[in-house]
Amino acid sequence: MSNRPIITGIMACDLMGAIGKNNKLPWNSEEELEHFRKTTIDNVMIMGYQTFTSMPERALENRQNIVFSRTARIQIKENIVFVSSLQEFLSLINDYKDQKCFMIGGAQIVNLFLANNLITEFILTKFKRTYGGDVFFPLHLLENWSYIIISEHTDFIIYKYLNPG
Ligand SMILES: NC(=O)c1ccc[n+]([C@@H]2O[C@H](COP(=O)([O-])OP(=O)(O)OC[C@H]3O[C@@H](n4cnc5c(N)ncnc54)[C@H](OP(=O)(O)O)[C@@H]3O)[C@@H](O)[C@H]2O)c1
Repeated sequence: MSNRPIITGIMACDLMGAIGKNNKLPWNSEEELEHFRKTTIDNVMIMGYQTFTSMPERALENRQNIVFSRTARIQIKENIVFVSSLQEFLSLINDYKDQKCFMIGGAQIVNLFLANNLITEFILTKFKRTYGGDVFFPLHLLENWSYIIISEHTDFIIYKYLNPG
């Protein structure tokens, strides 16, 4: 991973690994959103186009957003840039090496990043119950990673997983 950019994953899933339902989060948790907002604000967020369309405008403010889309998309705001492939992303990400970069999902993009060993550490919230969903986190891909608990809350636990590579 020596020449690789340092990218932190940050996502949340339920007990079964569900991360989304009907292009929304399956749960309604201000507390978890606040953790996400506080951790990512003023930093770089990397996401897939479906996640981009699901986010409220204020979630994208005060941070640089890099959005994966194979469809040609025109930059609509100064803080939003589109990339159409992993190769294009890797040539761009060096421009942000002085900032903290967060890969925030969804399922297609987390699979892409984990399959290409691009995540250094993963901050993963696990809700304590199931909510049902139509997109899932690939929990099996973190099986060999060590982890610590960052904090425990009434509805969820926040873990930090470390890439063994
Ligand atoms: N719980 C969480 O932490 C969390 C976090 C994020 C999202 N979510 C949820 O996850 C769901 C969305 O996830 P998703 O898997 O459906 O979509 P996604 O990963 O957010 O975005 C998928 C899109 O990314 C683009 N893409 C994928 N691979 C690409 C590649 N190799 N190169 C260029 N572009 C690529 C394509 O966009 P085009 O179609 O434009 O080509 C594709 O449709 C929603 O329900 C959302 O609420 C949950």
